Order: sequence, then C-alpha cells, then structure tokens
Amino acid sequence: MSGWRERLTTPREQFIPPVVWVDDPATGGFAAVSKSSDETRWRALVDADEPIITQVDDGRTPPGGIGLQPSSSCSQPSLVAAMLDALGAGAGHKVLEIGTGTGWCAAELRSRVGEHGEVVSVEVDPRIAERARGALRRAGCSVTVITADGMDGYLPAAPYDRVIATASVRAVPRAWLEQTRVGGVLVVPWGTDYCNGTLLRLEVGEDGSASGRCGMNLAFMRVREQRRNYLEPSPAELRSAQRSTTTRSIAELYEMIAYSRAAFAIGLRVPRCYRTAEELTPDHRRIELHDTTSNSWARVDLTRGAEKSDVLQFGPRRLWNEADAAYDWWLTAGRPGPQRFGLTISPEGDHTTWIDTPTSATSWLVAGPQS
Ligand SMILES: C[S@@+](CC[C@H](N)C(=O)[O-])C[C@H]1O[C@@H](n2cnc3c(N)ncnc32)[C@H](O)[C@@H]1O
Repeated sequence: MSGWRERLTTPREQFIPPVVWVDDPATGGFAAVSKSSDETRWRALVDADEPIITQVDDGRTPPGGIGLQPSSSCSQPSLVAAMLDALGAGAGHKVLEIGTGTGWCAAELRSRVGEHGEVVSVEVDPRIAERARGALRRAGCSVTVITADGMDGYLPAAPYDRVIATASVRAVPRAWLEQTRVGGVLVVPWGTDYCNGTLLRLEVGEDGSASGRCGMNLAFMRVREQRRNYLEPSPAELRSAQRSTTTRSIAELYEMIAYSRAAFAIGLRVPRCYRTAEELTPDHRRIELHDTTSNSWARVDLTRGAEKSDVLQFGPRRLWNEADAAYDWWLTAGRPGPQRFGLTISPEGDHTTWIDTPTSATSWLVAGPQS
C-alpha cells in the first residue's frame, strides 16, 4: 500500500489554526506556539506525521497559559489515512463524522464521496465548529457542520452509509448504530479506561446488531462525556489503605501498563479502572489504578533493583488484585494482541468482546448501553 502522503489529498495547512499547543517539558503541561511569532516551528508541526493539539482545557486556557489537558486536535495524518481506508467511504456515500475538530478529516471525506455524496460532521464545541465551518468554506468543501453532542449522532440526515468517530468511546452509542444503514460501516476508536485503545471497524447487521474486529493501536482523546478522572488519595486513605507487596518483576509491571497487548486485554477484563504511571525519580516509579465510581484506588511503587514492590489498595474494589488476575489470564490465554479481539453489539446495546471469532467460547460482556 502507498504511503499516507499519496493517500490523502487535502493539505493540512489551511485547516490548522494560527495558535497550536505543544508539550512543555518544563511544566509537564502544554504551551502555545503561534504562527505569527514562530512560523518555522508552526510549519514543522503542520508538515509532520503527528497530531497537532489545537485546543486545551476546552478553550479555558488562553495562549500564554499552561494547558493541562488537550481537548481538540488535528489527528495524525497516517492514522487518518488508515481510518479512512478501514471506513471505505466511496463515491455517492453519505458519511457522518463525530468530532469535526479542524475540519481537515471532513474535507478529506468530502473528496472521497464526490459530488453525489454528502458529509455531515458533528462538533460539540461551538467555537471549534465555527472555525471548522470557515476553514471548510475557504477550502471550497461542502460539508454540513452541526454544533451538537455527537453521542446522539445526527438523525435528520440519517441513514448513513458510513460513520466515523475521531474521538474515542468506551461504548458505541446506540444512536450511531441506529443511524447507519444495514451493511453500513462504522470506524470508531474504542478503548477502556485502562487502555485507550484500538481502531474498531463494525458492520451493521439486519437485526440492528453490529460486529467487527479491532485493528491498530491508537490513543484518541475521549468524547467529552466519557473522560474519566483520577483520584487523589487523601492522607487518611493512605493511612487506612490495605498494604501488601507484589513480586511481579519490573518487566512484568511495565508490560501490564504498556499500550498494546497486555494493557488492552487487562482493560477489557477490569472495567472502570483508569491507570496512571509517573516517574518520581529515575529509580522510583509509581503506577496507580483509579475507579472514581466506587472511590477505589491502588498504588504500586516500583524501585529499581528491589525484589518486591509495595502495593496500597483502598476502597471496595481491590483494583491491583483485579489487574494482576487479568494479567495472569492474558498470559494463560497465549498473550493475545488487540488484533485478535473483536466486538459484537446486540440490538439492545450490550457490548460483548471475543477472541478470534464472534462465536468463540472466549467471550464476555464488556459494556452495556449506558457505559
Ligand atoms: C481529535 S479531535 C477531531 C479531529 C478532527 N476530525 C480533525 O480532522 O481535525 C476530537 C474532537 O471531538 C470533539 N468532541 C468531543 N466530544 C464530542 C462529542 N460528544 N460530540 C461531538 N464532538 C465531540 C472535540 O471537541 C474535538 O474537537
């Protein structure tokens, strides 16, 4: 297959705002780079095969401040090319995109569906939507940009031949399936709180169910309503937490939190478990697991050269024990990578994951319609 530059026809430059955000190593946050004051850097970002952060903190942090959380971006070009290949949008198709962002992906979709096709894109943030409308207009792309919560899809223009989300979800909203025609395709970044995530390609069946396989690993920003926050253990919680140790090696612990393979499977077995990892000193790392819904957390402190790591657990769930058991399960199952997993969504919205085939004996419920 040819490279992403040959597979994408729309230049990014005209869609990228004059102020973008980059990692700021000094603060651990994000700092603004503006085209007017540092055009060389801005242009290098536009030309690179990297995502570009175009908004932080839902627009609350202005340039000059330090952003804490990216809230809109222009996705990585090679990833967009892979997602569009999986989507298979072609001439005459009606396509729904969730997460307009800069409008660049919508423009690319527009060029694929041709003059008889249609692209509708839904963006939750009014200022981002307005900016994208302007950029699309200037680029001569006819795309309908709707300012709304994309979790509801966009019923007035349904049914769609193709649906693509460019923000990730833990569970695929019922509306997206109901608004896709039978035989239509959805491409959705899908993940768990523990691991975000994989590229899921679903096909809609006659009974309203949908099924498909996971693909490449990716990390997309979450749709706004599915962001999950972490807990800050209080001094009282730290004092009363259950203390134990683990003899897992540092290599095993890293495998449990690395993006692909083990972490993806652990996330599917341990629901509502948000994971953080922090380097406290070059010899001391801390892994934390958090379930904000039950106020449970676990902390594992790894020290280079130590034979054991200290474990603290608090709350009704023993999150470390759950993750540890899930890791054992994954080892016994033969270390399946994300590509061996798939997902079937019933007409009622239950999400069942499976290994290798939808009829596999190894399948379990991972999410309900309201997850
Ligand atoms: C990764 S960006 C999208 C990139 C975009 N497709 C592009 O080409 O620039 C994700 C976008 O999803 C939007 N978003 C988050 N939650 C949403 C929701 N519930 N409905 C619609 N848009 C949402 C964010 O505001 C953000 O602009």
